[in-house]
Amino acid sequence: MTTAARTTTPGSTTFDVAAFRAHFPSLHGAAAHFDGPGGSQTPSVVADAIARTMTSPLANRGSVTTAERNAEAAVQGARSALADLVGGDPRGVVFGRSMTAVTFELSRAMAKAWGPGDEVVVSRLDHDANIRPWVLAAEAVGATVRWADFDPASGELDPGVVGALVSDRTRLVAVTGASNLIGTMPDLPAIADIVHAVGAWFFVDGVHLTAHAPVDMVAFGADFYACSPYKFLGPHCGAVVGRPELLETLHPDKLLPSSDAVPERFELGTLPYELMAGTTAAIDFLAGAVPSEGSRRERLLTSLAVMQAHEEESRVALEARLVDLGATVWSRAQRRTPTLLVSFAAHDCKDLQRFLGARGVNAPAGSFYALEASRHLGLGDAGALRIGLAPYTSEDDVDRLVDGLTAALAG
Ligand SMILES: Cc1ncc(COP(=O)(O)O)c(C=O)c1O
Repeated sequence: MTTAARTTTPGSTTFDVAAFRAHFPSLHGAAAHFDGPGGSQTPSVVADAIARTMTSPLANRGSVTTAERNAEAAVQGARSALADLVGGDPRGVVFGRSMTAVTFELSRAMAKAWGPGDEVVVSRLDHDANIRPWVLAAEAVGATVRWADFDPASGELDPGVVGALVSDRTRLVAVTGASNLIGTMPDLPAIADIVHAVGAWFFVDGVHLTAHAPVDMVAFGADFYACSPYKFLGPHCGAVVGRPELLETLHPDKLLPSSDAVPERFELGTLPYELMAGTTAAIDFLAGAVPSEGSRRERLLTSLAVMQAHEEESRVALEARLVDLGATVWSRAQRRTPTLLVSFAAHDCKDLQRFLGARGVNAPAGSFYALEASRHLGLGDAGALRIGLAPYTSEDDVDRLVDGLTAALAG
């Protein structure tokens, strides 16, 4: 691929947005996309990998025919790629229709070992997909749910808040790697220490984080790390990477003839081979987005660090322009992704979304399933305008957004 970075001085790299954008057919002469936190645009290589898988001989997994081997290669390839992306073990990659679906499955399997007196901790910073599965699973077996609140003024989730909620009855703590509403990136290693000190498991929702930062689930202290390829340039599916030795202890409901091996035990029905191939292609694309040497894991860490620095620079510049326009910025944490949540006095955010949309600027308004977070911020269920930067966001996109908002606010 044409790589999307140019070296300026030895050891420092500038991200070349134009070269990167050239890989995305949907970006050519069309809308300015600030809707990446809902789902990213797709480079051709991902669509090609999906089409290639579907038009090549394909059967159920096996080793006898080419068709069987192609399916097997798609599965093994995706497990290995996802493990490289998050710093996990390929044997612990559970693939599914969505993060939500896999998390629900895992929550029900874990809850088989919970009962009255056991406790789970969830956070109000999280997307509902890392709240409701745990709440419902706990309720079904009579376990207790404890809620960790973030500070609405700062957007921070203090690890001490989690520390005050755990006990030797805590079985699981579920916290996001980054909020999809206000971008906050909690101090995961500090929370993990607290969780592990009481012998509980730590489930991290990395769906929003994985698109914006180098990920190392081992360094984070995550026992389970969830992500969704469609947020990082891949197809619509989800995965949870767990520690294989913990997955071995779980026994989900499954069909009698289906494999009881880990991770297959958790993967109901036939796997979506083409989406798995698309996921691998997205991860390979990210690894190659910035020229560097080494293993795929090493190249991913380099690419994501360069993109993160680029996105952070763009975020700071855009935020200053939004403040100049009179925005209230709800995303305020010290460490956060380039996802801005803003509102403008006397302007309905849905109206702003429609106005911008008519000008080809896609910036949605809402609470984006981070319902608890939106309510805790005082924004109710309506939320606010979410402006998400992605590696493909150009300066021209940003100008179009600011011009659009200027016109909307004047109108
Ligand atoms: C932070 C976060 N967690 C979980 C999800 C749910 O992911 P999926 O659509 O794969 O179920 C989303 C989707 O927007 C999200 O942003």
